[in-house]
Amino acid sequence: MQHTETLKEVLQFYADAGVDMALDETPHNRLAAPKEIAEPAAAPAGRTHGHSAPADQIQPSVAAKPAPAFTPPAPDTKTHDAHLEEARQLAASATSLDELIALLKNYDGCGLKRTATNTVFEDGNREARIMLVGEAPERDEDLQGMPFAGRSGQLLDKILQAIGLDRSSVYMGNILPWRPPGNRTPTNAEMELCKPFIIRQIELAKPELLVFLGTSCAKNLLDTTDGILKLRGKWRSYSKAEIPVLPTLHPKNLLRQPAQKRLVWRDFLNLRKAAIEKGILPTISE
Ligand code: URA
Repeated sequence: MQHTETLKEVLQFYADAGVDMALDETPHNRLAAPKEIAEPAAAPAGRTHGHSAPADQIQPSVAAKPAPAFTPPAPDTKTHDAHLEEARQLAASATSLDELIALLKNYDGCGLKRTATNTVFEDGNREARIMLVGEAPERDEDLQGMPFAGRSGQLLDKILQAIGLDRSSVYMGNILPWRPPGNRTPTNAEMELCKPFIIRQIELAKPELLVFLGTSCAKNLLDTTDGILKLRGKWRSYSKAEIPVLPTLHPKNLLRQPAQKRLVWRDFLNLRKAAIEKGILPTISE
């Protein structure tokens, strides 16, 4: 009983520290004594038999089988620039969203893919005229392979519902398709390597209105250093395709700071107004 409690505490400690996934299918006891191949035992001093046991009488020790040799992954000899060029060429060559996903799944230039469970590419309706772009998958998204599958997504669903939208009337993607381990902040290099794919995803989806959720999404896709509190709430043009884009706070910020919901509510009312003007949403009669 006491052991169970201790184990729970250890697991909780790992979870709190962000270690919430296993990188291998079987656990390894890294503290165990090294396993050795059984050798014919030398006769202990003082014995008079004068010979070791015949090979067929040697009892193999429990650990007689050598552990499979660890094969390190082949070193990545390509430079960052070479990986980036590959990402750009692959993304540009995609003529459909299906092709883009296939190319992305085969692209090995970004190290985040190695620790992720799934490539998290899209959710919602590809034909939708509104597209929302988020940041990076977290645990639930990584496990389910779908953007906004977790708590942030549940809150986002409620916000969408409040203005008459849902996942069948919007399309969703992320600037990063792979979860950074333990939800750490992605590096600039990782974001740069994934950027050609989200740019192409937007081009191929051809939305009429875009919403960028969160600081890193807005900064990265709008090529600005301004923070989200400065960017939010004002329509601007997404220069790659001249699409009106509304940056706003990410729902995960609202889970931490519920007081900011009023800002996001204002932004989504703004989105609703633009959607009505474009005939995407019907005018609500008073
Ligand atoms: N946060 C994001 O930005 N995207 C997701 O898919 C999940 C959480």
